[in-house]
Order: sequence, then structure tokens, then C-alpha cells
Amino acid sequence: MHAAVVSSFDAPPRYDEVAEPVARGRDEMVVEVLAAALHPRVRSQADGSHYTSTEELPLVPGIDAVVRDSKGRIRYTVLDDTTLGTMAERTVIEADRSVVLPDTIDPVLVAAAMNPVMSSWVALQRRIEFRRRQRVLILGATGSAGRMAIQVAKRFGAGQVVAAGRDVARLEKLRALGADVVCTFDDVARAADVDVVIDYVWGDPAARAMVALLTARADRSAPLTWVQIGSVAGPDAPIPSAALRSARLQIVGSGIGSVPGRDFVKELPKMAAAVADGAFDVRARAVPLAEVERAWVGTAGTPERIVFVP
Ligand SMILES: NC(=O)c1ccc[n+]([C@@H]2O[C@H](COP(=O)([O-])OP(=O)(O)OC[C@H]3O[C@@H](n4cnc5c(N)ncnc54)[C@H](OP(=O)(O)O)[C@@H]3O)[C@@H](O)[C@H]2O)c1
Repeated sequence: MHAAVVSSFDAPPRYDEVAEPVARGRDEMVVEVLAAALHPRVRSQADGSHYTSTEELPLVPGIDAVVRDSKGRIRYTVLDDTTLGTMAERTVIEADRSVVLPDTIDPVLVAAAMNPVMSSWVALQRRIEFRRRQRVLILGATGSAGRMAIQVAKRFGAGQVVAAGRDVARLEKLRALGADVVCTFDDVARAADVDVVIDYVWGDPAARAMVALLTARADRSAPLTWVQIGSVAGPDAPIPSAALRSARLQIVGSGIGSVPGRDFVKELPKMAAAVADGAFDVRARAVPLAEVERAWVGTAGTPERIVFVP
């Protein structure tokens, strides 16, 4: 069969032939892949930079997909990092890490939406104790995950959602998704009194935003939970020690490891139902898997999520 194949962490995957997959475990099944999205997480899998990377090559990338099983049922599935991911004509999944979807869904839209929706959904439902009417600031709100975080926070009853980013034109469009306030990273002091920060950015912009926010807070003893989810601006952030002493700041991360895999899986049916119901505004572009090498380069950070269709 054909698949996207990574043979070197320094080069994009190539469309190539690989061996047919074989189901081994009791819960495993071979499925036909309908749509697999190119999330930043998949890029870091394919360039070996993700913290779960085993550096084993060659590998077929892809950590989730919409698939069709041997009985014709459509499923959304998540995969561990394995050398056979979802960017292939067929792959192996574990039934209990998948959820059956109505066969009326659009595989491309569901594949595009699930990973970015999951990032804030799991953070607010499983990582912290989020309460209705709490105010939320999203750093990196213009990306796929940030756009979804606005909609997810509203869905869970956020009292106010502030969307922060670096591109003013893109920020303005976020009001239509439910953002009550939009601001640039330099202006986050406007969101000084939020209760929760959902941070996709990290690096210097997040450290600067943290100091600006804490300094401008009306009541520094009011709890502020900073949920670290992505690191598009850098893996390290220079957080001054005073930030932790001078305000009631709690920094937590949300991702595989800090949230048990079973908790992600438990949220899958509800997330998938919401996505399938059209609850979220999703921007996706279907690309034939045969064009993987060309589509991989130069599309990072594009507003539409690339979704490969074998
Ligand atoms: N832990 C989890 O469960 C989980 C799940 C999903 C995603 N993530 C992570 O979340 C992050 C965002 O994912 P995504 O799907 O939203 O990616 P995306 O669609 O590619 O969006 C990237 C976002 O980051 C911004 N950005 C890029 N470089 C930046 C920089 N140097 N400084 C400031 N902002 C910058 C972009 O702003 P512009 O619009 O201005 O370009 C955009 O808002 C990634 O790190 C991803 O791995 C984590």
C-alpha cells in the first residue's frame, strides 16, 4: 500500500510503498484511512522534536484519523506514536481508542477539528477545575487550536473570552467565533483579571504576557491558572521568580502525560459528537496523500488545516 514515509528527520515525508499492516493484539484492527490531518503535533513527530519521539525510522506519521473499519463503520481514532501512523491507505487501530461516528459526517472536517478541539476541551474538563462564568485568556488564539479554544470555552460557560495573538487582521475575525475582546500580545494587560490562561505560545511572548498580566491585576491574591498547551514561540520561557511569589499564579501543562490517556479517550465520544453536530467553525483543506511531500513544506501556520486523503 501507499503511505507518507519519513526516512530522515531533516526532510519531509515522501509518498512511497510500505508493507500492508497486520493487526496483532486482541483489540487491534486494520482500517481504511479516510482523512488524516497535519497538526503541528504531527510535524514534530515527523521531525523527531516531539517529547514522545523514540527516534525510530522509517516511520509513517499521523496521530489520529477518520477511518472505515471492516464492517463499514466510520470511526475517529487516536494513535500512540508508532512507526505506522495514520498517513497511509490503511493502518492499525485499537478499537477502544476510537469512537464510532454517524456515516453522514464529513471525514475531512472531523479530522481537521478533533486535535485542536481536544487541546482546550481536555484542559478545561480534565486538567483543571473550570467553572462556568470564569474569564479566559487565550494566547495564540488565531491558530486552529486557539480558534477552537474560543468556541470550547464559550461552550463550557466562560464568562468572558479574551483572544490574544500577533496578527491584528486575523484577531478581528475571532469576534465572530465568540471572542469578547481581542488584543495583541503587547496589550494583554487588558485581560489582567482573567481566571484562566490557555497558552499555545510559550517562549518569550508568554513570559512577557505573564509579567504584564500579573502586574496589572486588581487583586493579586485572586487565583490565576495558566494552562500551558503549546509552544509555537519556543520550548523555553524565562519566567521571573517574582511572578510566582507576587501573585496567586499556578502554572500547569495539559497534554499526553499530564492528562492520562484514558481521560483523553473518555472525552472522545462527547467531542466527536459536538464536532459531528457542526458545533465548531472548522477550516480545512483536503489534499491527496500522494501530494504529501509538496503540501508538507510551506503550509505550517496556514489558516486552514491540511487534511490528507489517501
Ligand atoms: N497539548 C495538547 O493537547 C495540544 C493539542 C493540540 C495542539 N497543541 C499545540 O498547540 C500549538 C498550536 O497548535 P495549532 O493547531 O493552533 O497550530 P496552528 O494552527 O499552526 O497555529 C499556530 C498559532 O501560533 C501562532 N504563532 C506561530 N508562531 C508564533 C510566534 N513565534 N509567536 C507568537 N505566535 C506564534 C500563530 O499566529 P499567527 O496567526 O499570527 O501566525 C497561530 O496563532 C502547537 O504547539 C501544538 O502542538 C497541543
